[in-house]
Amino acid sequence: MRSVTIGSAILQEGDALELLRALAPGSMGGLLGDPPYSSGGAFRSDRAQPTSAKYQSSSDRGKYPEFQGDTRDQRSYLAWSTLWLAAARRAVKTGGIGGVFTDWRQLPITTDAFQAAGWVWRGIVVWDKTAAGRPQLGRYRNQAEYVVWGTNGARALKGPIVDGVFRHRVPMKKHHIAGKPVGLMSDLLAIIDGPVLDPFMGSAPIGLACLEAGLGYVGMEAEPAYFDIAFERMREAAAQ
Ligand SMILES: C[S@@+](CC[C@H](N)C(=O)[O-])C[C@H]1O[C@@H](n2cnc3c(N)ncnc32)[C@H](O)[C@@H]1O
Repeated sequence: MRSVTIGSAILQEGDALELLRALAPGSMGGLLGDPPYSSGGAFRSDRAQPTSAKYQSSSDRGKYPEFQGDTRDQRSYLAWSTLWLAAARRAVKTGGIGGVFTDWRQLPITTDAFQAAGWVWRGIVVWDKTAAGRPQLGRYRNQAEYVVWGTNGARALKGPIVDGVFRHRVPMKKHHIAGKPVGLMSDLLAIIDGPVLDPFMGSAPIGLACLEAGLGYVGMEAEPAYFDIAFERMREAAAQ
């Protein structure tokens, strides 16, 4: 399992739960996590599909590596999320902010897990993906995803005021099947202290935003192909 340092960023390859448990208590400033939502289908047969079949049109299949951990049902997602969120909370300083991405289907489970892990739940930030989001005949467009956020215990009421809705298109050029925009991460990081903990790094948009903002970063990724992609993107960005 690889661990590499790029400037003030550390990239670790391996299972997040194991790696999180190895971090020193209170050593991280905050958490921003984009876990596999297991959200591709209502039925077991749907969830068990490869991630490319769940999240990509057939014309895009094979463009990106498959990613890990996206086959859980709701009950097992709740149990697993509680475990990793508890380990992440232990690693974040008192008063530090924690945020977890979710879609509408896993939103209730995610707020349950967040609180079960001991975080103080304080709200939901909306990521408005614009009208480029998935259209549905006779239904509302699935245009938003969410960040369940809160703090590790009490947090003083001071610092800048930031918006609670951010509008960013899904990147045209992606580096991950579920790739998110770096600009969205920069907006979210406005009030998160470093070092920032990112247990599900993927193609490292959170790491890139941390590099830009001069924040320390610890990113974790279980899938070697995505670890390689994250490493290359971070190395190139740091060299510029
Ligand atoms: C939703 S994706 C993150 C995408 C990322 N935000 C991006 O824009 O590229 C979740 C990532 O977590 C990784 N993953 C899944 N289970 C994991 C685990 N137990 N430990 C570490 N990484 C894991 C997957 O391989 C996947 O790359």
